[in-house]
Amino acid sequence: MLDVSDLTNEADYISAVKLAMAKAYAPYSSYPVGALVITEDGQTFAGCNVENASYPEGNCAEMAAIAAMVMAGHQRIQKIYIMSQDDQGATPCGGCRQRIREFSDNNTPVILCSPVGVQKRFVLAELLPHAFGPEFLS
Ligand code: THU
Repeated sequence: MLDVSDLTNEADYISAVKLAMAKAYAPYSSYPVGALVITEDGQTFAGCNVENASYPEGNCAEMAAIAAMVMAGHQRIQKIYIMSQDDQGATPCGGCRQRIREFSDNNTPVILCSPVGVQKRFVLAELLPHAFGPEFLS
């Protein structure tokens, strides 16, 4: 598990990811998710899940946050917070672990939250060991 050394502004990050979760459009699963990406220079980008009547067309919260980050011209994730209503905190799906990997490295913190705060802290390699990343194609 991750060494807790960088908690600057963590309360703000928790508030922001909670606001993102509150914006989720999840009428089919009733499982709202929020994600908050923090870039290396401290900028933050939020996303929520957006479902669709054609179920497979829904998007995950992490996907939305990453898209907002890239759209703003950033391509490195310093850390990411993910929140669901689950007491144990959110856990990213396999696809989103890979999406996070694209802009992260093995040591990037992935911080899983419930509405009352942080529940689990991982680094990405714990969630996606032996990951395939962009470096394999360079
Ligand atoms: N969901 C996310 O937004 N992120 C994840 O990593 C896991 C799942 C969403 C997708 C769907 O809208 C709902 O949670 C239930 O699967």
